[in-house]
Amino acid sequence: MTVRRPILALLLALALSAAALPAAASAKLKPCPSSGSGCTLARVAAETGIFVGTAISNQATATEKADITANFNAVTSENAFKWSEMSKTAGATDFTTTDRLVAWARAKKLRLRAHTLFWHRIQNAPWLKAELAASPNPSARLRQLIAERTAKVVGRYRGKVAIWDVINEPLALFGAGYDTEDSSVTPKNIFYTTLGESYIADAFGLAHKADPKAKLFLNELLWDSRIGDPKSDALLALVARLKKARVPIDGVGIQAHAMLGTSSPWFPSSTPSLKRYIDALGKLGVKVEITELDVRLPLLADQPNPLAAQAAVYRRVASACAQARACSGLTVWGQRDSYSWLDSYSLTSATAPNSPLLLDAGGKRKLAYQAVAAGLLERRR
Ligand code: G3I
Repeated sequence: MTVRRPILALLLALALSAAALPAAASAKLKPCPSSGSGCTLARVAAETGIFVGTAISNQATATEKADITANFNAVTSENAFKWSEMSKTAGATDFTTTDRLVAWARAKKLRLRAHTLFWHRIQNAPWLKAELAASPNPSARLRQLIAERTAKVVGRYRGKVAIWDVINEPLALFGAGYDTEDSSVTPKNIFYTTLGESYIADAFGLAHKADPKAKLFLNELLWDSRIGDPKSDALLALVARLKKARVPIDGVGIQAHAMLGTSSPWFPSSTPSLKRYIDALGKLGVKVEITELDVRLPLLADQPNPLAAQAAVYRRVASACAQARACSGLTVWGQRDSYSWLDSYSLTSATAPNSPLLLDAGGKRKLAYQAVAAGLLERRR
């Protein structure tokens, strides 16, 4: 009977395709143990729904890229999207590095955080100050430059960048206001001194227009993200003002660089206080991500086991993210201890190697790696 042959062919095709399935695909992966042991952070991300990322440098080596794809499901551009990196002269934008990064992240199916459109303190456009000084109307000129950069850069990567750090560190480095005096460590916030706080709302509105689907974050360097800490409270108030003004802000990045003295109040003090702080931001209607976590090992040299103490700090932060529903991601600021910005930064290079990350210089997982896994897995319970 002719009808039988097609059915037989179909059954044969189905049998062959099932046999072709790789074993891993058919055997269901066992869930990670609550200790995180034996699980990559990418597996932990899949099981918890919390993105786990790392910063990728412009000069990322093949080894660093392999570390990233083996361990994480998200990346943040360490420098590529900064104004100084993209525009060495007024009116010119070089997309070479950012095009390469966006293409690589998409090819590797890594969620990309583009960091950052506007940061007054470091790596701002080197020509901006002179440009505004030469303009008869600096505020109009600055508004025009912010609009041009945002439309050009966000528009170019429409649909390809998941999160934009639209504004980085708007608040004063040490304090609750804005940098208004020019000093070597804390140059004035030229965006704020020229346009007032409105520059923040303008930048978010323009970014939303250029890519309505991208999530828009404000990223801040807090020393101890805690209600009652003046800078942390100032950030809460700023976000509340932006939300009240219906500014299209989707999230807040808490950088969480654990880089100053552990005795100072500026060190991730405890899981409950960080969780309470993330919850307070969440109540304002924004997502929260830990965006630049690293922990300077020399700060813990007086501990009986510095690597275990470092892991405990990482655990504190990861647990807080897992316990606070608004926390959607955790990013560490690098892969291996062989490269960290801390080893060349003026305030921390004296204690190099700072060994702040999750993989040692040889790429081996440190205690901190499993501590992050275990901390994030608290969400699964
Ligand atoms: O691009 C220039 C290059 O042209 C030049 O030849 C070279 C030598 O001087 O310098 C290169 O610029 C360096 C840049 O990184 C890109 O590699 C700067 O000197 C260097 O200072 C800059 O450091 C970056 C730092 O931000 C600037 O403050 C770090 O890599 C980066 O990890 C760090 O990241 C920041 C976040 O963006 C925001 N939060 C704080 C965090 C730490 O400062």
